[in-house]
Formats: sequence, structure tokens, C-alpha cells
Amino acid sequence: MTDDLVKTEGPPSSSSSLPEEKSDHRGDESRRNFLKVAVTLSALFVIGGIAALTKSITQRVGSVGSTSMATAFPRVKIANVSALSVNQPVIFNYPLDNEPNILVKIGQKAEGGVGPDNDIVAFSQICQHLGCLYAYESPGSSPDCNTSYKAPGPEGYCCCHGSIYDFANGGKVVGGPSPRPIPQVILEVDSTGDIYAIGMTPPAIFGHNTGSSDVNSDLQGGNLV
Ligand code: FES
Repeated sequence: MTDDLVKTEGPPSSSSSLPEEKSDHRGDESRRNFLKVAVTLSALFVIGGIAALTKSITQRVGSVGSTSMATAFPRVKIANVSALSVNQPVIFNYPLDNEPNILVKIGQKAEGGVGPDNDIVAFSQICQHLGCLYAYESPGSSPDCNTSYKAPGPEGYCCCHGSIYDFANGGKVVGGPSPRPIPQVILEVDSTGDIYAIGMTPPAIFGHNTGSSDVNSDLQGGNLV
């Protein structure tokens, strides 16, 4: 039966080598398959290695907390309660070293206010309209650019285009073209009266992923303080 099979599959002169050829083909195929697997595995190792290296670099950059990869707001001491006077603002950078904020004791209970009278608040000083720096206006005071205006309460007034922010009510917009409130700095006071900045409320600081509700987007584009 084997002879018949051999005869039907090829000429007599090649009948004796046919099984070997079949074996070689299978051998070639096995080698090809082995090579494919080896190449695929090598590629996966290379890709995996690159991914691991990238992750390592990312984590390292993030861990030094000095670049756009930072993922957590720092806790930074700003002042002591005893050093503040009503309507005397203090400027400080937070969370990045190029982002100014205004800390002020407004003399009346405020949304998000801390301290014995819940009247100490802080906001980003960067106007949410087009990014100018605004100034703090105490009740009854006038901005240099608009002396006919008298602030009815503690406010931030932007002289670029007249946006006005209410410091007693979470920095909400009460005048001008600003499309959103100014981000409020989340404050904490310890038992000694030291005031710390520990975070910021969304929306994002002007120019930092505007429109995102992800507060961590505020940490991109600069160095943490
Ligand atoms: S940038 Fe402040 S009102 Fe336009």
C-alpha cells in the first residue's frame, strides 16, 4: 500500500526521496514558524523595554515634582494669621512658581474662608478673560484705571477689560467679560495659625488646559513652588 502511494505521488526515480522532501518541508516550516515566533517575541521585548523605560522616565520626572509631569498640589506655607491685616493683600506664587495669587483677610465671612473669622481667602491673580493680572480692591476703593468705580465689596478688578471678581463669594464674576470665576486657593490653618495652600478649585488656571475639570491640569507647564 505504501508502494502504491509512492507511485501515485511521484516518478519512480524520486519515490525514495519524497518522504525526505516532505520531512524537509516540514522542517523548513518549523524553522520558519520558530523564526516568526522568535522575531515576534523579540519585537515584544523591544516594545516592552521601551514602554518600561518611558514609564521609568515619566515616574522619575514626576517624582522630582519639578516639571509638567507633577500630579499633586503641594502644601505650601504662605503666612501666619497674626501677620495679616484686613484688606492688606499678600501676593504669593502657587502651585507653580510663575503663577501669582492674592491672599487677603477681607474682614467678613467668605466662601471658603479660613482663620478665626473665616475671612481669609486666596485666589489666582490671573484674570480668566485673557490672562492679565488684576488687583485687589477693598470695599469703597477704586481701581487706578477706573476712578469712577467704587467697589461695593472685596473684589478683584482687572484693568485690561474690566472683569470683576467677588472675593466673598468664591471669586465669581460680577462684571466684565470674564467667562468664569477665578480659581480659589484651598487654604488650611494649623494650630499655630500658619496658613497653608493645599490645592486649588477648578476650573483650571488661565492657559492651563482651560475647560478641563481636572484640577491636576493646573500643574502642567511650569515648576512647582
Ligand atoms: S484680561 Fe482681564 S478683563 Fe480681559
